[in-house]
Amino acid sequence: MKQLHDQLNKIVATQGVLFTKLHQHHWYVKGPNFFTLHEKFEELYDEVNAQFDEFAERLLTIGGHPYSTLAEFIEHSSIKEAPYTDKVPAEEMVKTVLADFELAVKDLEKGIELAGEAGDDDTEDLCIGYKTSLEKHMWMLQYYLD
Ligand SMILES: [Fe+2]
Repeated sequence: MKQLHDQLNKIVATQGVLFTKLHQHHWYVKGPNFFTLHEKFEELYDEVNAQFDEFAERLLTIGGHPYSTLAEFIEHSSIKEAPYTDKVPAEEMVKTVLADFELAVKDLEKGIELAGEAGDDDTEDLCIGYKTSLEKHMWMLQYYLD
């Protein structure tokens, strides 16, 4: 159970950083696709925010203690952030989101495995649902790039 708690907490931390990072893209994206991507990044951080809360509350429900500080999120997140200094092409931002979603999916796959081992169907279901949604976004982002 400890392993499952730790993994859910890692998912919480990753979403915490992802939420901020998507705001960075939302604020700084430039170029002819500004309106499309500005809006898409907002849609994505809204979903990430909802899942961030969902996973933290699931962890509480099963007796765990979600991280609740920015320092903890940064320390335990699977994805890394960086300050926006030089102009980043819009396409690079989309590629970054794709790479970050891939890491978030890996977190969720581990969560599915551990929840399965613990016989926790609800947590497993939560992980599967979010993974399915992220993978759909990844397909769309990849088609955007193609
Ligand atoms: Fe905004």
